Amino acid sequence: MGYENILVNDKGKVRTVTLNRKSPLNPLDMDTLREVKDAILDSGNRVILLHGANKAFSAGADINNFMKLTNDTAGIFAKEGHDIMNAIASYPRPVIVALHGYCLGGGFELALACDLRIAHPDTIFGLPEVNLGILPGFGGTQRLRHIVGETVAFGLISTGKRFKADEAYRLGFLNEVSEKYLEVAEKLAEDLSKKPKESLRLIKHLVRVAPDEMFEEEIDAFGEVFGHPDREEGVRAFLEKREANFKD
Ligand code: COA
Repeated sequence: MGYENILVNDKGKVRTVTLNRKSPLNPLDMDTLREVKDAILDSGNRVILLHGANKAFSAGADINNFMKLTNDTAGIFAKEGHDIMNAIASYPRPVIVALHGYCLGGGFELALACDLRIAHPDTIFGLPEVNLGILPGFGGTQRLRHIVGETVAFGLISTGKRFKADEAYRLGFLNEVSEKYLEVAEKLAEDLSKKPKESLRLIKHLVRVAPDEMFEEEIDAFGEVFGHPDREEGVRAFLEKREANFKD
């Protein structure tokens, strides 16, 4: 498939998706988000590594498009944005995002929809929508609240304040901060691509939906995964003191 706003590269069981808009801070329009979603869903079930070319991961939704939105069209715009973020969040394989430069607004919300976040120490984060007289409309209010809690989420979203990678890490938004953020993310993607698929699919599903609604599902999933051949291989390999060779 041909893409205009992203680059796609497959290496083994990992697909790398690179935001590559002409503007250097990678503002996100809907076409770009559609391409990201398509590249993930059409990846042949690979682990995904998402990052940005140029000077930033993304400085947010493309503000050039905002003047023409009305009440009605803004609702449709947000609904499609939500559908795309939900498709990424529920993709059955891990989606890792490597961040640098700016991770703002819609770019921050895209990162929130991913499963694991690695950032360069100089990355600047924030949901600055309030300063434009709008609000985060691609799931950011809810996903951030789940990660950092209501008090911190309200503080960050209501002020639109920008913050650095060390604070983002302290708040639990980031898994790791490293000068070699892309290499760290590549290594993580490679490692996760070797894990048993069915276990990872169920773990992602359970962890990424509100936990208190999921206790019953966790019990069912635990039973389900025990019927899978990779479980037998994983347990047998441990007992035989060798590396597991997962087939699925
Ligand atoms: N949408 C569209 N274009 C954007 C953009 C966005 N979200 N963010 C930056 N750009 C463009 C700028 O218009 C500028 O374009 P130009 O070179 O054609 O003039 C270019 O990217 C560089 O931005 P600039 O503001 O000159 O760089 P800076 O280093 O001074 O500041 C930011 C960088 C990210 C702090 C600043 O651009 C900014 O605040 N952007 C908006 C962030 C935001 O509100 N995002 C949420 C949107 S909902």
